Amino acid sequence: MNRPLIAPSILSANFARMGEAVSEIDRSGADWVHIDVMDGSFVPNLTFGPKMVSDLRPYTRLPFDVHLMIQNPDSLIPAFAEAGADYITFHLEAVIHAHRSVQLIRNLGKKPGISIVPSTPVSHVEELLPYVDQILIMTVNPGFGGQSLITTCLDKIKQLVSIRKAKDLSFLIAADGGINQDTAPLVRNAGCDVLIAGSAFFSAQDKTGLVNALKGEVF
Ligand code: DX5
Ligand code: ZN
Repeated sequence: MNRPLIAPSILSANFARMGEAVSEIDRSGADWVHIDVMDGSFVPNLTFGPKMVSDLRPYTRLPFDVHLMIQNPDSLIPAFAEAGADYITFHLEAVIHAHRSVQLIRNLGKKPGISIVPSTPVSHVEELLPYVDQILIMTVNPGFGGQSLITTCLDKIKQLVSIRKAKDLSFLIAADGGINQDTAPLVRNAGCDVLIAGSAFFSAQDKTGLVNALKGEVF
């Protein structure tokens, strides 16, 4: 059985207590901190910029997985790299020259990822698979936490698993949106490597229990 990495998203944390939220993620046994950057243009919501990333950096040694839901990501990628991002993922739909953006992230010494929204097929990203460390499949329309997982997106995870095997590649497959204890088995069974969870994590009383449940561990 696939035992995925868990990346809680601080989008669902209290923005007035963000350092504490990252410490909670650190203590929970989760693997990465998922940081949702929104510009009010690519998605109809706003969050924060590179300063939040640098201010949060001292709160944990876990990798920072920065998910850019912004137009023209190239203009801010260097600042997020400098701020302490480890993985930097941008949206295919927000750029023309995606290969150039991937190289920009790589040349800054960070791990490039590409995300696709529910209406974008896997075929649109296929040419770039040899160059990335992560493909992030949005399982909701990006912009807000607390939405329901769109189950048809799970087929895209299965397609990526099969292409990765056929081409002998090694990128991670992440899923983002609507992941909780009930839907996590579907995402794991599709072959996903990284489960991102915002509202499920921050609404859980027992965060370590939730992380273990998302990983599929039974005690
Ligand atoms: C949505 C963000 C997600 C969000 C997930 O646009 O990219 O990372 O935090 O939230 P939940 O887990 O509540 O669907
Ligand atoms: Zn996200």
